[in-house]
Amino acid sequence: MTSQPATDVRPPLEARTRLFQMMQAYKTTSLLATGLELGLFDCLAGGRQADADTIATLLDLDPRATRLLLNALAAIDLVHSDGRSYTLAEPVGPLLVRDSPGYIGDMIKVLASPWEWEALRKLPDAVRHGGTVLAEHAETPEYPYWEDFALYASAIAQPTANKVAEALAGWAPGRDPLRVLDLACGHGLYGFTLARHQPQAEIWSLDWPNVLPIARKHAEQMGVGDRMNALVGDMFEIPLGGPYDVTLITNVMHHFSEQRGLELLRRASAATAPGGKVVLVGFTVDDGPPALDPGPHLFSILMLVWTFQGEVHSVSTYERMLATAGFVNPTLHQVPGLPMRIIIADKPEA
Ligand SMILES: C[S@@+](CC[C@H](N)C(=O)[O-])C[C@H]1O[C@@H](n2cnc3c(N)ncnc32)[C@H](O)[C@@H]1O
Repeated sequence: MTSQPATDVRPPLEARTRLFQMMQAYKTTSLLATGLELGLFDCLAGGRQADADTIATLLDLDPRATRLLLNALAAIDLVHSDGRSYTLAEPVGPLLVRDSPGYIGDMIKVLASPWEWEALRKLPDAVRHGGTVLAEHAETPEYPYWEDFALYASAIAQPTANKVAEALAGWAPGRDPLRVLDLACGHGLYGFTLARHQPQAEIWSLDWPNVLPIARKHAEQMGVGDRMNALVGDMFEIPLGGPYDVTLITNVMHHFSEQRGLELLRRASAATAPGGKVVLVGFTVDDGPPALDPGPHLFSILMLVWTFQGEVHSVSTYERMLATAGFVNPTLHQVPGLPMRIIIADKPEA
């Protein structure tokens, strides 16, 4: 009997390495969050070079633990170490310093919030059950996470809000006054940015009562506080008023199934004036392989653990929903460098 040469059935090293990295990715997030929470990057701002003992003293931390943390941060290239002292690593370091112009550190409260972190631990249950199993989730009235989102998501919202204002710039001046409804406004930036571009605009910002004071503060900071009106409560229930020239529904349709989203769009349609416009903003999925555009598919997982039936919908699903709700002529707008899509549709003239 001749023996067969042994076949190595182990997957290539690269595949194993990738899997090990995935298994530990949460540690990187945790290190970044800890560095931000303790003010460690701020401590190294302005090109400061310091050793672990000095940083521990400045931040009132344990020296040994500070050394371990700094070395781990150096290991993932967030700080630089010469073996004794530490500086911020370029180019990421300055983005983590609170007073720097490009600061994005607060986004960790949105992208890796304790609510999201805990929710994802229940992903297997959500997959078994078909939706959230949490007692408190994104559809819970006055969910506290939405306060953090309203407070800290401006960095990602502003470029898209600018794009919406630009997309309406040719049409909006023809409507005076321009009455704008911002459904589930959160931080309120979409409505307020439009108000800054259109001096004749007045904004009705709708959200839960715990979120609206944050929107109010932003309206004042953006110089449009006198043109903001608050609509407080459940967007599926409270009278929306109107008619409005523009109805904004941004980053909220993915919280719902097509059927529930259609309910919201029908309410929006009833509140939008003939000749007015509805603006949808959010992720969309297309028919291509998920690996070509991973963001929306990963976001759908958050919707799975956090909502009853939410998911990222396709452009064609939105077109179908808009048509059913009585809107026509949908147009698609992209934001360069950002995954969000903007769909603008018309309410026909009466
Ligand atoms: C992802 S944030 C979107 C905020 C903003 N429109 C944006 O584009 O960034 C979702 C917002 O919807 C609000 N929201 C969710 N369900 C709601 C409901 N039934 N009635 C009113 N607001 C709701 C939340 O409080 C939160 O501010």
